[in-house]
Amino acid sequence: MAYENILTDKQNGIATITINRPSKLNALNKQTIQELHDAFESLGHDAEVRVIILTGSGEKAFVAGADIAEFANFSVEEGAQLAAQGQELLFDYVQNLRTPVIAAVNGFALGGGLELAMASHFRIASDNAKMGLPEVSLGVIPGYGGTQRLPQLVGKGRAMEMIMTAGMISAEEAKNYGLVNHVVPQAELLDFANGIAQRIMRNSPTAISQAIKAVNANFEDGTNGYKVEIKSFGKCFGTEDFKEGTTAFLEKRKADFKGN
Ligand code: COA
Repeated sequence: MAYENILTDKQNGIATITINRPSKLNALNKQTIQELHDAFESLGHDAEVRVIILTGSGEKAFVAGADIAEFANFSVEEGAQLAAQGQELLFDYVQNLRTPVIAAVNGFALGGGLELAMASHFRIASDNAKMGLPEVSLGVIPGYGGTQRLPQLVGKGRAMEMIMTAGMISAEEAKNYGLVNHVVPQAELLDFANGIAQRIMRNSPTAISQAIKAVNANFEDGTNGYKVEIKSFGKCFGTEDFKEGTTAFLEKRKADFKGN
């Protein structure tokens, strides 16, 4: 598929999506959100793809936020619609994707950029990365899930401070907060992400999909995560991957998972 604002690449089971509007620090306009949705949908349905890495082009930004120029004149209704559509099309979609998504945060991850990183399954960052939710400095609040996912990841007090001050934290601070799992030099970021992806790929894709579902259930309103876990656990017993994984263990060989 031809995209204008993103690049996609697929190699040996690992897909990389690069948000590519460097002149606007990869800000998320409507078209970029739609293209990201389309790419995640297509790669999420591609059985060859075991892990997706999401990053930004250039050395400066992952994503510097939602495109401010695009919503500056919106009405109350248009504002609410922007958040609702974005959450459904991209942020919730990424969170619920059955293929693991790693955000490789290569620079500024602000506003919608941090929200997109937080919707990913986990995050790693380059040492120059800066993260924050600056929305209140523009007279608005985070609208792509930031008020919900930031407290889940860093705790309510830290989230409140970050949101109220509209300030940025460094990659090291983000690591101390538990917002990113690893910080590495910028030149090594994608190799590092690929290394983690390769470790993930040794494991059963069907089990990983069920694990994503069960972990996400912990954060869903009105859902009993323990019950989801029981159901997902049971489902694994019906897969070829489970047969292969247990047989390989007993035969003292490496499992060859096919993802079914
Ligand atoms: N929306 C639209 N355009 C954006 C943008 C955003 N969120 N963030 C950056 N850009 C654009 C700038 O307008 C500028 O475009 P121009 O060259 O056509 O004027 C270009 O990207 C480069 O940004 P610039 O501000 O000149 O870079 P900088 O190095 O001086 O500052 C930032 C970098 C990230 C500190 C600054 O761009 C910024 O504060 N961006 C907005 C962050 C934000 O509030 N995000 C939340 C949105 S809800």
